[in-house]
Amino acid sequence: MKATNETEKIISEQLSALNKIGTAENLEEWRVNTLGRQGVITSILKSISSLPAEERKAAGSAANQGKIRLQDAFGIKQKQLLANDSSNSNDSLDISLPGRPTTGGKLHIITQTIREISSVFVSLGFQIEEGPEVEWGKYNFDMLNIPQDHPARDMWDTLWVEKDEHTNSEPLLLRTHTSPMQARIMEASSPPIRVIIPGKCYRYEATDATHEWQLTQIEGLAVDADISFADLKGTLYEFAKRIFGRDRQVRFRCDYFPFVEPGVDMSIDCFKCSGKGCSICSHTGWIEILGAGMVHPNVFKGVNYDPDKYKGFAFGMGVERIAMLKYEIDDIRNFYANDLRFLSQF
Ligand code: PHE
Repeated sequence: MKATNETEKIISEQLSALNKIGTAENLEEWRVNTLGRQGVITSILKSISSLPAEERKAAGSAANQGKIRLQDAFGIKQKQLLANDSSNSNDSLDISLPGRPTTGGKLHIITQTIREISSVFVSLGFQIEEGPEVEWGKYNFDMLNIPQDHPARDMWDTLWVEKDEHTNSEPLLLRTHTSPMQARIMEASSPPIRVIIPGKCYRYEATDATHEWQLTQIEGLAVDADISFADLKGTLYEFAKRIFGRDRQVRFRCDYFPFVEPGVDMSIDCFKCSGKGCSICSHTGWIEILGAGMVHPNVFKGVNYDPDKYKGFAFGMGVERIAMLKYEIDDIRNFYANDLRFLSQF
């Protein structure tokens, strides 16, 4: 009798636990613990064989009846929960709610900036070209008047592409700037030339708020019989005004790039403080935006152009830098972190 009483007690405990259940998850948990293969009922049934013979019959029938009661109660509970569920979902269908907005795709801010800058130069008569990101050392350096072992190579920390030992090919690298396209274009065509070359470049550099190992540049090249430094200034002045505002002033200062002579860097007066000094211009009133110069005679010789017959100017600018200035972005790493909260602002 002891075992039978014990069984009844367990059954009624299970029933009252079942009564309190309000969610499908809890119900399933209850089913596994009570009616499951390793549940309470199974262990009661298993224990019957160890009872004294005269108690077994009563204990067995108590356990079986209890199991049936629990199964029935379980079925009822399951139906109740299901019914509640569907009435809930009927309540939640509110046809007056506005639909979920669909988010449209956009061009990346760097692509937008490339297009904006390109359209300025296209309107000035330049054509757009593209070139390889994996480049021969010859075009990235040698043809740009930077021979092997020249200290100027240190101006660009280079990512070299591993050599294939079988082919013993010329050194390959990820281009450190778009300038190799100067030589490629002059090799493949003859003056007059007016091109811009937007594209990705790579540098072996630690990243921080103003440096990334991948960057975008726009190169420019104009070659003709009578190109002068005044053309360079006029072209870049017009570019600066169209991108940064009509009342911009420009400043040219001497700078060194092996493939131009003379070489300059161009600054604009700060568009934020108009030259008074603020955080964007590091309190100097001026913002440096690009490097430029007149094509070096050695570069012309390398592509079999007669330096006495032709003159040209070249320039190169960092697109990320221009976008950072224009939109007051203080960390270059934002551009490629793929965070939509940043990207969707533009
Ligand atoms: N290629 C240079 C750089 O990456 C920029 C430049 C281009 C300077 C053309 C002069 C002429 O720093």
